[in-house]
Amino acid sequence: MYAQMVKSTGKGVKTRDDMTEEERHFQDKVDADIKIEPRDWMPEEYRKTLIRQIGQHAHSEIVGQLPEGNWITRAPTLERKAILLAKVQDEAGHGLYLYCAAETLGISRDEMTEMLLSGRMKYSSIFNYPTLTWADIGAVGWLVDGAAIMNQVPLQRTSYGPYSRAMIRICKEESFHQRQGYDIMMKMAQGSPAQKRMAQDALNRFWYPSLMMFGPSDKESVHSAQSMAWKIKINTNDELRQKFVDQTVPQAEYLGLTIPDDKLKLNEETGHYAFSEPDWTEFFNVLKGNGPCNNERLEARQKAWEDGQWVRDGMLAHARKKAARAGAAQMAAE
Ligand code: 3HC
Repeated sequence: MYAQMVKSTGKGVKTRDDMTEEERHFQDKVDADIKIEPRDWMPEEYRKTLIRQIGQHAHSEIVGQLPEGNWITRAPTLERKAILLAKVQDEAGHGLYLYCAAETLGISRDEMTEMLLSGRMKYSSIFNYPTLTWADIGAVGWLVDGAAIMNQVPLQRTSYGPYSRAMIRICKEESFHQRQGYDIMMKMAQGSPAQKRMAQDALNRFWYPSLMMFGPSDKESVHSAQSMAWKIKINTNDELRQKFVDQTVPQAEYLGLTIPDDKLKLNEETGHYAFSEPDWTEFFNVLKGNGPCNNERLEARQKAWEDGQWVRDGMLAHARKKAARAGAAQMAAE
């Protein structure tokens, strides 16, 4: 498997001959699908790559609450409100599992948050787009959570134990999220002509940003080759994007909606759809902070961080007092 990867992707991946004894032993474990655990030896770059990816993933879950949280007060029925509330709470939980998984690699949640707020860590590009109508909440569940699942199901088999275990739990909940989004789209698509137009408009605006969630094309991806050799990533960005398109087009057809792509065409022989690439200039611009909602999202995180300072201070003071009491009790007992 490893030899195959080096052959197929080449760039930046050490050959076996270039590895130290420790690195070879590590690679053998990865190749044999033995999970790497926090106390095991690991190459420094493996640790850093995981912190980058898991941290970015955790931030995405947390920032991802903002566009949907925006609609909790305006959900059309009590039932829809309860469902959306539960979904947004799930996302908070996902963020917390992932921050915990990253912490096992020797970085704290505070450090990761500070890196996010200072622009040294990213979150998914998709959350820099606004949710303008109720149909957008359907499109986010259907397409954004659908893309997230496509990416995250293989990550259940990722080589780092704590990340893999977090992903197993997260994927169960993401499936429910995707279905609730599709259910909203179904209601809208089968509703009045105006509701159907809203559903189509949401699909038009979220289609390409959802395709961008998988990252740049394989030619442009900086980390894929090494991450796949280490089984941090199981598939390339383009492989997952193709799977997502193949799965989603029939779902759109069932809804009676049109994917906004003139070049979309099923290849009967391969069973795969040909499709137009997203606008990569837009993607890299959003990554640089120039998307429609980048400033708003970071300002909301900054405010939440500042507003929560008194809670963190209180918890820390309590923990310190408790530790001091326990220390005094132990000394008295000795
Ligand atoms: N948004 C923001 N940044 C992105 C991105 C995206 N959609 N796709 C790629 N990038 C960044 C990478 O972080 C990297 O930047 P860096 O070198 O400065 O860190 C750069 O673009 C080059 O991309 P690569 O393909 O080389 O990067 P990766 O190998 O890390 O692949 C990835 C990108 C596929 C997103 C991978 O990191 C991954 O699988 N991450 C785990 C899943 C994840 O983060 N999902 C977030 C989705 S949202 C979500 O889960 C919430 C749910 O509730 C919907």
